[in-house]
Amino acid sequence: MNDLDLQKLYEAALKASENSYSPYSNFPVGAALLLPDGKVITGANIENRSYGLTNCAERSAIFAAASAGYRTFCALAIATPKADYPVGPCGACRQVISEFAPADVPVVFGHNWQNAVKTTVGELYPFDSLHELAK
Ligand code: THU
Repeated sequence: MNDLDLQKLYEAALKASENSYSPYSNFPVGAALLLPDGKVITGANIENRSYGLTNCAERSAIFAAASAGYRTFCALAIATPKADYPVGPCGACRQVISEFAPADVPVVFGHNWQNAVKTTVGELYPFDSLHELAK
C-alpha cells in the first residue's frame, strides 16, 4: 500500500475522531479500515458513565465492518488528535484486529500524519493468542 493511500486513510480516521463520544476521558480517537472492495469504514471511541463499557475506536470500526458483512480488511489507520505522542491500540483491540486481518496488513497510528507510526498487525500482535482456533 502506498504512502498516499495510507495518508488518506489516516485522514478518514482523523475525521472519524470528530464523532467520538468521550466526555469522561476527553480523549477522542478515530479509526478507519480500508476494505477489499476499496470502501472505507470508520469508527470512534464511545464511552459510558459505567467506564468499563467503553468501546475503542478500532473495535467500533471493526464491528461496523463485520456487521456490514466484511470479514477482512486491507489497512487500518488510528488517529488520536489530542495526544502528544503516537498512541497504539490497546491489548483488547490488538486481539480483535488480529481476528480479521493477517499479520502483513499495514497499520498506521498517530496524533498527526507527520509523526505517525507505520507498522503491521503482526508487529502489534506477535505470538497471536489462540490463532489455532481461527483456522
Ligand atoms: N481508546 C481508543 O479508542 N483506542 C485506543 O487505541 C486507545 C484508547 C479510547 C478509550 C477511551 O475512550 C479513551 O481512548 C481513553 O482511554
